[in-house]
Amino acid sequence: MNLEQAKKKLADYNQKHLLQYYEELSETEKQALLTQIEETDFSVLSYIHKKTEEKKEVRIAPIKALTLTEIQSKKGELKDIGTDAIRKGKLGAVLLAGGMGTRLGSDAPKGMYDIGITKPVYIFERLIENLFDVVHEADTFIHLFVMTSEKNHEATTSFFAEKNYFGYDKNYIHFFKQAMAPASDYKEQIFLEEKGKLATSPNGNGGFLTSMKKAGLLDFIHEKGIEWLNVFAVDNVLQRIADPVFLGATIDAGCNVGAKVVRKNDPDEKVGVMCLKDDHPSIIEYYELTKELRDTLDENGERAYNFGVILNYLFEVKSTENIMDKELPVHVVEKKIPYLDDNGNFIKPEEPNGYKFEELILDLIELMDKCLPFEVEREKEFAPIKNKTGIDSVESARALLEKNGYTL
Ligand code: UD1
Repeated sequence: MNLEQAKKKLADYNQKHLLQYYEELSETEKQALLTQIEETDFSVLSYIHKKTEEKKEVRIAPIKALTLTEIQSKKGELKDIGTDAIRKGKLGAVLLAGGMGTRLGSDAPKGMYDIGITKPVYIFERLIENLFDVVHEADTFIHLFVMTSEKNHEATTSFFAEKNYFGYDKNYIHFFKQAMAPASDYKEQIFLEEKGKLATSPNGNGGFLTSMKKAGLLDFIHEKGIEWLNVFAVDNVLQRIADPVFLGATIDAGCNVGAKVVRKNDPDEKVGVMCLKDDHPSIIEYYELTKELRDTLDENGERAYNFGVILNYLFEVKSTENIMDKELPVHVVEKKIPYLDDNGNFIKPEEPNGYKFEELILDLIELMDKCLPFEVEREKEFAPIKNKTGIDSVESARALLEKNGYTL
């Protein structure tokens, strides 16, 4: 794209200020900025208005989950189904590690955080050890795909290499970058983070398969005969990855998605809850759950929307590919965005100052036909690290790990 074309595109989206330092840039920087302007999708800005517009009415109803008791009654059978699929190489795992982890107050990738007490125990290391449990039991390595972003790719890949992949076979670890989205202020003006660079952030976890395709990994998945992907968050250090019982149950139920859920420990716990939206399995994010839904009771007097997702899903590859080209809604999220002010000074705000734009995994689930909510014991499988102290923190995760017999 040349300068004239860039000016035209920016004028169309009312973003002319992005070229304000253009004349100060070197030739290479000028070219990089023009390329970034060419590649950036400015249409996400239109979602700022949609955020406040009236949402269309949807019918929300509670969903039934496969409960712990039901799972226990046929655990052996389900485990055999799952283990057989794993031995045949039908399961891959996807670690979502493209997020920024800013709540921990560190700029480094979240997985590099050391939660050890007497020895270093990195979050990535814990996750790989969890995966190893199944690798040993099934006696086969499982392909692990690690989603990073432009902001943390280099740090993540170097860290894995430096730690010798925590003993995992490196031929079974594949890194890929997710796409980025621009970040804007409240007046819809996209920030600059450098004189020749638009402020961008990872575009949410909903586009993982599209990003894998772009990296050529979908062809690899087909070649290897991988039919299922266990997609999981970087921050839950206790989760079971590639769980054969979960896989067996999802296959046995004839579903094309499975979602691990826990009973919420507090009505306001920050987890998305499973429900039916117009008869389709779906998730309401915690910040979108109304008080009315939160307090609705079922016929037994229990909270009707009480199954919280722990962000550990199984996606059938074929069905996910079928919906991949459908447009996902863009969620507009208020965040703290570092930027250059009008005098060219770099500012790191203490409070939210604008919007990021994200596609979320939960919208993918809504597009699929059949989802199995699969209950797990929170004390054994859910220790998310979101904050430094307090709820869902390094402290609470350490306590749960120790309770489960891990030495830190
Ligand atoms: C997330 C889930 C929520 C669930 C909760 C459980 C989403 C949108 N929300 O909430 O339903 O109940 O975890 O703890 O998934 N990520 C990327 N790229 C991005 C953004 C995020 O890879 O662009 C990854 C993060 O690295 C992390 C995961 O997605 O592994 C979750 O992201 P986060 O923003 O921390 O979600 P929560 O609000 O905690």
